[in-house]
Parts: sequence; C-alpha cells; structure tokens
Amino acid sequence: MRAVRVERFGGPEVLVAGEVPDLAAGPGQVVVGVRAADVLFLDVQVRRGLFGEHFAVRPPYVPGCAVAGRVLSVGEGVDPGWTGRRVAARTGVQGGYAEQAVVPAGELVPVPDALDLDTAAALLHDGPTALALSDNARIGPGARVLVLAAAGGMGALLVQLAKASGARVVATARGRRKLDAALALGADAAVDHSEPDWADRAREAVGGAGAWC
Ligand SMILES: NC(=O)c1ccc[n+]([C@@H]2O[C@H](COP(=O)([O-])OP(=O)(O)OC[C@H]3O[C@@H](n4cnc5c(N)ncnc54)[C@H](OP(=O)(O)O)[C@@H]3O)[C@@H](O)[C@H]2O)c1
Repeated sequence: MRAVRVERFGGPEVLVAGEVPDLAAGPGQVVVGVRAADVLFLDVQVRRGLFGEHFAVRPPYVPGCAVAGRVLSVGEGVDPGWTGRRVAARTGVQGGYAEQAVVPAGELVPVPDALDLDTAAALLHDGPTALALSDNARIGPGARVLVLAAAGGMGALLVQLAKASGARVVATARGRRKLDAALALGADAAVDHSEPDWADRAREAVGGAGAWC
C-alpha cells in the first residue's frame, strides 16, 4: 500500500509518499481501507517536533489521528459482520495518512449512508470537542459568543452550534475569504483578527459588554 511518512521533524517538505507493506489485523483489531484521513492542527505541531513530552512519536512515522473508509478485514475475536462496513475511527497519534490503517474494533464508529466519508473523518475529533465545549458553556438564547479562528475546523462547528442555540455569534478570522465562510455558517458579524483594532471591533460587535469565547 501507499502511505505518507514523516522522515524527520520539520515543515511540509518532510512528508514523503511511498510504498510500505500491507497491514494485518491482530486480535481485537480491524484493517480499514482509508478513504479519508483527518488532518488536525495537532498533526502539524507534532510533525514540527512539538509536544514530544506528551506524544511518543519519533520519525520515521505515518502521521494521522483518524480515518474513514470501509473495513477490509478483521482480526481474531472481532465480529466478521464489520467487514465491508463504512466506518470512522481514531488511530491514536499516527497511522492515518495511508491507504490502510489498523484500529482497535472498539474504536469503530459506523458511518450512516447519508454522511460522506470525508465529512465523517473531519468530524471525528472536532465534533466531540465542539459539542463538549458548547454543552459545558450552556450557550442559549440571549448569549453573546465570540468564536476566534472561526473558519478553522473547531471554529466552524462552534459558530454553527452557538447559532443553533440562539446566541448572537461574532466570528474572527484572517482575510475576506475566511470571514465570508464564517458568515455563511451563520455568524451575525465577522471581524478580521489580523487588523490592529480587531479586539475593539469584536467587543463592539458583541454589544460592548464582553462575551463567552
Ligand atoms: N480539533 C480538536 O479536537 C481540538 C481539541 C482541543 C484543542 N484544539 C485546539 O483548538 C485550536 C483550533 O484547532 P482546529 O482543529 O480548529 O485547527 P485548524 O482547523 O487548523 O484551525 C486553526 C485556525 O487557527 C488560525 N491560526 C492562527 N495562527 C495560525 C498558525 N500559525 N497556523 C495555522 N493556523 C493558525 C487559522 O485561522 P486564521 O487564518 O483565520 O487566523 C486557522 O483557521 C488549536 O489550538 C487546537 O490545538 C482542537
């Protein structure tokens, strides 16, 4: 199979595609034929060599924290009924940027037919985090919510969740294209955080009395 490996810590140039051996499922595991790999800001930071104290990842390695695709094979002790099913699954901190990924069967999330696999992969990390943030903040009608970096993976979900809760939502992002994306997702106002006065403009947009961020 083909996989993308990080040959050494660094910029995007250290990502190298090439042939690697096919994978086999061990006991309690499955092999997923990868259709989409989740790409997180965290992947980029680890690839640059950050957070070594938290993640035991050293080059060479295949990056990628989550995948979506179809189950190709199952290991000992796993229900063979998983074979061929559309699934999404976390892989840990490596293994996703490849045509195949091995994951524990307990990590499998069935993907409904109505959801495409690219979106399923994108939601696997950002979705639960955004829901937890939104739920714990108890956002509701009348709330004023400021979403920073609102066109990123997490920000895009938080704009939609806050708006659906009835809040007034002010988004910040860098550049017209991202500002328009945040407005299209439902933000009531958008402020460019690359402008020097952005904090004043954001405060004014939320109503002058502060906001939940
Ligand atoms: N995804 C998760 O499940 C999760 C969980 C816990 C914490 N977080 C944290 O939440 C934050 C956002 O994560 P995310 O997954 O939404 O990331 P993302 O999709 O990569 O978005 C990050 C946003 O940050 C802005 N940014 C500012 N400085 C940047 C830089 N030097 N390089 C790249 N982007 C930069 C960019 O917006 P502009 O171009 O508009 O400035 C970009 O859209 C990160 O700090 C991440 O560690 C994420």
